[in-house]
Amino acid sequence: MDEQDEIRIAVIGLGYVGLPTALGLADLGWPVAGVEIDEKKARFIAKGDPPFYEPGLADLLRRGLDSGRFSVADDPDAALQDATVLIVCVGTPRREDGGADLSQIDLAGQAIARNLNGYKLVVQKSTAPVGAAERLRKGIGAAAQPGAQPEFDVAVNPEFLTEGTALDTFFNPDRIIIGADSPRAVALLSEMHRPLLERAGKPPEETLLVTGVGTTEIIKHASNAFLAAKVSFINMVADLCEATNADVADVARAIGMDPRIAPAFLKAGIGFGGSCLPKDVSAFIHVASEHGVDFSLLREAERVNLRRPAQFTGALAQALSGVGGKTIAVWGLSFKPRTDDARDAPSIPIVSALLRDGASLRLHDPQAMREFQTLFPPNPPSLAYADSPESAAEGADAVVILTEWDDYRSVDLPSLRPRMANPLILDGRNCLDPAAVRRAGFDYRGVGRR
Ligand SMILES: NC(=O)c1ccc[n+]([C@@H]2O[C@H](COP(=O)([O-])OP(=O)(O)OC[C@H]3O[C@@H](n4cnc5c(N)ncnc54)[C@H](O)[C@@H]3O)[C@@H](O)[C@H]2O)c1
Repeated sequence: MDEQDEIRIAVIGLGYVGLPTALGLADLGWPVAGVEIDEKKARFIAKGDPPFYEPGLADLLRRGLDSGRFSVADDPDAALQDATVLIVCVGTPRREDGGADLSQIDLAGQAIARNLNGYKLVVQKSTAPVGAAERLRKGIGAAAQPGAQPEFDVAVNPEFLTEGTALDTFFNPDRIIIGADSPRAVALLSEMHRPLLERAGKPPEETLLVTGVGTTEIIKHASNAFLAAKVSFINMVADLCEATNADVADVARAIGMDPRIAPAFLKAGIGFGGSCLPKDVSAFIHVASEHGVDFSLLREAERVNLRRPAQFTGALAQALSGVGGKTIAVWGLSFKPRTDDARDAPSIPIVSALLRDGASLRLHDPQAMREFQTLFPPNPPSLAYADSPESAAEGADAVVILTEWDDYRSVDLPSLRPRMANPLILDGRNCLDPAAVRRAGFDYRGVGRR
């Protein structure tokens, strides 16, 4: 396979993962068609308007459309027939029993089965439990035209991008994992990643790992589960620091200096959220138990995390002698900074609990307010959205920080202080400098900090 244009790609599902992936692959030189079932979303993308916020994505989308290497398929069946590599990036939400809901993958499999007009490599990029790729393979085989001898492979190529830095993680991956059981699939996926590996300028074996399909499914879940356990670990350390007047930020910094531990995901606070860690931990526990493995370590990490929002609202209620009738400014709604994604964000249970307990809330987020309003529509005077962190805090009894956006680090606190009814800041992400906040005349409380 010498010519780049020999690999035509279709990306199925243009969400937070699919769209950056499709545009990144197009930017590397491959012809990519995006297939999106949500017509409104597809129309936005085709017009050059990303349906969600991700730094740099609008420019990359414009470049992809202008170059002609990326397009949104008007006719999904034709796009699937035209492509050799079909990358499945649809959602795998949590079911009520904690397992992964694979129905979107099943549906994508049926569309693929209808369009098997020659060899296809189906790549499961969606995060799914071990066994899901085999289920997809069987599903496609069963749904293919009776009598046809469909020729296809199913491989797994998990996504490790992080929202907020999705393009950087796409173009500078720390690892690319190919899970494939056929030499043809390995060759095709290796070739597809070749331009990326060449750009990295290091030996491919430092970034690329080729292994089995099931092993790869476990790699993705194990990665996310480990990160989640790390967060819950430091949150327990934070509780001990709080009880003993020690400082978790210094503890985390010091233990993170040990290369065996590393500093990432050692930030104490209101816990992990987002569309991945909570559901992936739960799916990993579920699939482990289906195979007779009791992953109690992870169940505890999950339990610790579920407690964090209530602990935080409890601390606020204690500081204010109850939140009923108080006005609270909430800074940050997205599950992390630099994204508008509020799926499974800790802000959701915290806002619900404060409203339930009779507080009036003024919410602010630089990007996530539109999405958040679908869950919590404005309802003045108990719930209002503010166009700046300062206006949210006007007359408030407390500011609570739920997402560590840079915008909140740059608020002029000395001039904010006289505009608040009560100068209390409860920093659920430990993102402000306690000494500076106190110098500005505030009562500052972080999580696990002196
Ligand atoms: N968001 C992340 O940071 C991240 C990171 C790594 C992995 N993942 C995994 O990637 C997968 C996708 O996550 P996401 O955040 O992009 O989800 P998403 O909900 O933002 O995107 C999924 C998209 O697929 C579309 N879709 C569903 N079924 C379809 C079909 N049959 N044909 C065409 N389009 C279809 C949906 O309309 C939606 O636009 C999940 O399995 C997730 O766990 C997500």
